[in-house]
Amino acid sequence: MNGHDKKAPSRRCFLGTAGLAGAAASLPASAVKAAMPDMAKTTMPFYGARQSGITSPMQNALYFAAFDLNTERRADIVSLLRRWTNAAARMTAGLPAEPGRQEEDQPGLDSGEAVGLGPSRLSVTFGFGPDLFTHDGKDRYGLAAKRPAALVDLPRFNGDQLVEEQCGGALCVQACADDPQVAFHAARQLARLGYGVTTLKWTQAGFSAAPETKGTPRNLMGFKDGTMNPTGHELDEAVWAGAEGPGWMVDGSYMVARRIRIALEHWDRMKVMFQEQTFGRKKQSGAPLGARDEFDTPNFNATDSDGNYIIPETAHMRLGAAQFNNGAQILRRSYSYNNGAVFTAERWPPWTQAIEFDSGLFFQAYQKDPRTGFIQIFDKMSKFDALNQFTTHVNSAVFACPPGAKQGGYIGESLFESA
Ligand code: HEM
Repeated sequence: MNGHDKKAPSRRCFLGTAGLAGAAASLPASAVKAAMPDMAKTTMPFYGARQSGITSPMQNALYFAAFDLNTERRADIVSLLRRWTNAAARMTAGLPAEPGRQEEDQPGLDSGEAVGLGPSRLSVTFGFGPDLFTHDGKDRYGLAAKRPAALVDLPRFNGDQLVEEQCGGALCVQACADDPQVAFHAARQLARLGYGVTTLKWTQAGFSAAPETKGTPRNLMGFKDGTMNPTGHELDEAVWAGAEGPGWMVDGSYMVARRIRIALEHWDRMKVMFQEQTFGRKKQSGAPLGARDEFDTPNFNATDSDGNYIIPETAHMRLGAAQFNNGAQILRRSYSYNNGAVFTAERWPPWTQAIEFDSGLFFQAYQKDPRTGFIQIFDKMSKFDALNQFTTHVNSAVFACPPGAKQGGYIGESLFESA
């Protein structure tokens, strides 16, 4: 339970008291719980020095939502963040979003679709975008002076095809769970609780194979993705903001999110050997080219009999490697996405088919400073990466994810309550 409100009704109980119809309601509680797979019963801690959903193991599903703010009052934001914190803490414990007894003549304390699904390792991670600090040059909430230098507006990168209305946001919610319905439910409840203060700006659903069940998950290009993510001490060093300030961000992290469309149809026509040269890794094993196993150290100096690098100069993994990026390391926590199909008959180049998947990678990277993390790495990558033939960045956002909340406190307290 992670110390959450033990007296409050569980989602199962909520459904019973709400008198809603449904299979779970007609089963005894013990039967519902027994039928639930172990993963569904597992909770992620919500309260703590750092937010969950950053360095914690990935779940199978993501629902990401970015919001605009339509209030001029600082007090509205504090009250929203309190509501969001309490609801997130409850939902990660498998409880309905709002406490209390459901009265039948009142709207639901919870929309109900997560009843019987268990906590499903739900994590809810909050972020603050540049727009929270200043909006159209205006300091709406008296926060402008507290904007961290690391919360930069990302530069325009080579090849960017960003859809402006789908970028940025003042606040974001990253809900991850092993059940996509639990993840969506969480984001949906928070949107509901923000009614009147927030407007949904853009969203993205994502999916992944959870690493602890299947090893490093594969992306839609068929390659293992996440192999070289930092671990242990290096991970802590790369991800968490510290003494460099500002004080309110200590134990927080900065998230860069980019929706990257992949021309899957084009990719699928490439020889596997070419695909491997694009990444610099073997498709099946994930091993660096010239090595045997996924976690073998890549030899970037090795050449073939013609004197060409075995891991090509334009290979994605070479361009991303810390040793060629001033030591830069980031934690990639990306999910694949599929937004359906698009009709592209008029498009060039000719290999595009009339109908294409609107699919790709919802890239998310966490770091202590995007200037020495994502920007340092992607500046070069965006110009020289062989992968760019197949990818288009269509949305972009950066958020400061504050430290975690204490019980009784709220997410963002260090920002709003600091002098
Ligand atoms: C659709 C887009 C992308 C795909 C499919 C993709 C896929 C991959 C794959 C398969 C690997 C090799 C295995 C691994 O270490 O995880 C990798 C490594 C890496 N990628 Fe990406 N990636 C994408 C975009 C990006 C972007 C935008 C960045 C920007 C910073 C990036 C940064 C990295 C880094 C730092 C590594 C590790 C390099 C190393 O140390 O070997 N990737 N990526």
